[in-house]
Amino acid sequence: MRKSAMKNTVDAVRDFWDARPLLVGEIEQPVGTRAWFEEFDRIKTNDGFCGDLTGWVPLDADNKRILDLGCGPGYWNRLFGKLNVEYYGIDISPKTVELAELSQQLYGLPGQIAVGNAEQIDFPDEYFDYVVSEGVIHHTPNTQGCIDEIYRVLVQGGRAAIGVYYRNFIFRSPFLFRQVLGAMRFLKVTMKGRGRERMAWADTPEDFVRMFDGADNPIGKAYTIVQLRQMFRHFSEIRFARYCLPLRMVKDNIPNCLHKLIASRFGLMILVKVKK
Ligand SMILES: C[S@@+](CC[C@H](N)C(=O)[O-])C[C@H]1O[C@@H](n2cnc3c(N)ncnc32)[C@H](O)[C@@H]1O
Repeated sequence: MRKSAMKNTVDAVRDFWDARPLLVGEIEQPVGTRAWFEEFDRIKTNDGFCGDLTGWVPLDADNKRILDLGCGPGYWNRLFGKLNVEYYGIDISPKTVELAELSQQLYGLPGQIAVGNAEQIDFPDEYFDYVVSEGVIHHTPNTQGCIDEIYRVLVQGGRAAIGVYYRNFIFRSPFLFRQVLGAMRFLKVTMKGRGRERMAWADTPEDFVRMFDGADNPIGKAYTIVQLRQMFRHFSEIRFARYCLPLRMVKDNIPNCLHKLIASRFGLMILVKVKK
């Protein structure tokens, strides 16, 4: 099939992440080594979550059956591996699943990891107590389908923590968006690797968040709180928390508490915490 005809399909999404599993091309250490996974975890924990994972890990995790939807190279498996949980991870990209399995062997982690599509989760209804999905469902064509599937596989009263790009006030204003990108070009602020040097030339907010994980990434979407409330309307509880601002690209010694404060106001992503 021609590449242009494949754009915005699940096949195109799989091809992109197969060619570039998360953080491959950004971390210097050899891919798949313990040093690579350690640097992966440091970047995600420090830069992504400012060292604070409290909103993501269930307080009563004991014996819970957890689905890691779009598991990537195994970050949540390494994290939840320290808890007494039944872990399942799926990802659309076979190469990414290979990396996650490698991490499982290296660290001796429990749990099952397999290739799978978040839009059609291959598990029975009401199978999981908890679903974690960070930075996944905004990269696939049918985001609403993923949310409906999360609802289906959760037990009644089950919870989910889902991270997506947030359509902040800059993304909502074409004027501000152009000004911020102009400032980024002027100050030469850019993300390195994965062809992201041209992020400051993005045409739209979708184009900008699409490129956040690589210039060839086929899909990126950003949502407002109003849109998210509508998309998650079948859940009985919903809470939001902003996070992730890659400030350490500009100033690497910014203290965690300040980084967290700024990210909680201006973060590029939003944690959606829901209960079925
Ligand atoms: C930004 S990475 C996040 C990985 C992981 N959640 C983490 O926190 O490290 C996005 C991941 O979502 C996966 N993905 C994208 N669309 C998917 C889909 N429809 N079903 C399952 N996985 C998908 C990609 O293969 C990629 O590994």
